[in-house]
Amino acid sequence: MSRVTISVSPHPYEALIEAGLIERVGARLREVLSGRDRLFVIAVALVRRKWGKQLMASLSEAGFKAQWAEMPDGERSKKLATVEQLAERLVRLGADRDAVVVAFGGGVVGDVAGMLGSLYMRGVDVVQIPTTVLAQVDASIGGKTGVNLRSGKNLLGTFHQPRAVLIDPQILSTLREREFRAGLYEVLKCGVIGRPELFSRLERTEVGKLRRDPAALEWFIAEAVKLKAEIVAADEREDGLRRVLNFGHTVGHALETATGYQRFLHGEAVGWGMIAAVHVSRAMGRCNELTARRITEATLALGPLPRMEVRDREILRAIQGDKKVRRGVVHFVLPREIGKVEIVGNVPDDVVVAAVDEIKRLSKNQYPQRAHKVVEFRFEQIK
Ligand SMILES: NC(=O)c1ccc[n+]([C@@H]2O[C@H](COP(=O)([O-])OP(=O)(O)OC[C@H]3O[C@@H](n4cnc5c(N)ncnc54)[C@H](O)[C@@H]3O)[C@@H](O)[C@H]2O)c1
Ligand SMILES: [Zn+2]
Repeated sequence: MSRVTISVSPHPYEALIEAGLIERVGARLREVLSGRDRLFVIAVALVRRKWGKQLMASLSEAGFKAQWAEMPDGERSKKLATVEQLAERLVRLGADRDAVVVAFGGGVVGDVAGMLGSLYMRGVDVVQIPTTVLAQVDASIGGKTGVNLRSGKNLLGTFHQPRAVLIDPQILSTLREREFRAGLYEVLKCGVIGRPELFSRLERTEVGKLRRDPAALEWFIAEAVKLKAEIVAADEREDGLRRVLNFGHTVGHALETATGYQRFLHGEAVGWGMIAAVHVSRAMGRCNELTARRITEATLALGPLPRMEVRDREILRAIQGDKKVRRGVVHFVLPREIGKVEIVGNVPDDVVVAAVDEIKRLSKNQYPQRAHKVVEFRFEQIK
């Protein structure tokens, strides 16, 4: 088991990462929730069906009285109305200020339940039990909560740190393969940002095998959590350092926006975005060819990535409209070497367009006859 402390004030908390943890969740929660009995578990039907029995058995064994509050699945339900409906349900169930909200699901449930917890009776305790790769390595750590508005994603939100994060890599066994792979791009991202050993091990790992190897998964997830914990502790409110976590996200978010969130899973868009950032970094003389090639190849090896069919103009427009534009300047997180990135605020448009063109070309090579299969490619092809 790995224990990672997230050192935020005034209440630091721990993330526990252990294969099979779901069987012992109740006992672990007892350590952090003394004298509290009532838990309200927020989940979607699918996750409740697959893992609900085990969770509830472990909670009641530890003496908790836990009740379900279900919400609809999918990014579309990440909206204020869902928070309101869940709050009404909590009232009906008699939840008071001592209630503990348990977020049991992917990033959507984590964000909605986190926001609910931060608002319900002006704030109650939240525990995160993330069930997707993305939620385990990213969304559940750091206390960001939020919902989407019709005008854009994550525009309404709060900071509300959880009391504990309980991570069981075994829960990922029921995840759809594509969702699993999509989360791994974020793990690879952590390697590039600040964990060279994580990067090089993932570079040498076959995704299919990793999925069936809980012990290995536990190590990868723990390393990614450690990186996120270090960054969050250094920059709790996302003013500076925390922005390095946006490696791959400048172009990634733009791809999601330009395709109306239909074509790419978030991690997949970040996958293309990381490769684009590598090109920008190369074009600006910030990293050497070996670094560029390793990041590109390792990213593609996690694929297949969905085909890129997006106009440059749309991508540029989306980049300009992104939240990461500060005072009119677009920021890119660029790799210098494996384990080291820098934030650069003056990337010329033509360099961005060239990088996007390169990932398009790479995408064509990836799908010569629209076959959904990664073909071998040579880095020289993409300059
Ligand atoms: N708060 C943060 O810091 C932060 C960081 C990154 C992302 N996010 C947010 O996270 C969200 C995306 O999260 P996601 O990728 O986890 O998507 P998601 O929550 O929609 O989950 C993806 C799908 O997997 C299903 N699922 C979840 N766990 C499962 C399991 N164990 N077995 C089978 N199916 C399972 C879900 O029901 C859903 O259909 C976005 O809204 C994003 O904005 C938040
Ligand atoms: Zn992300």
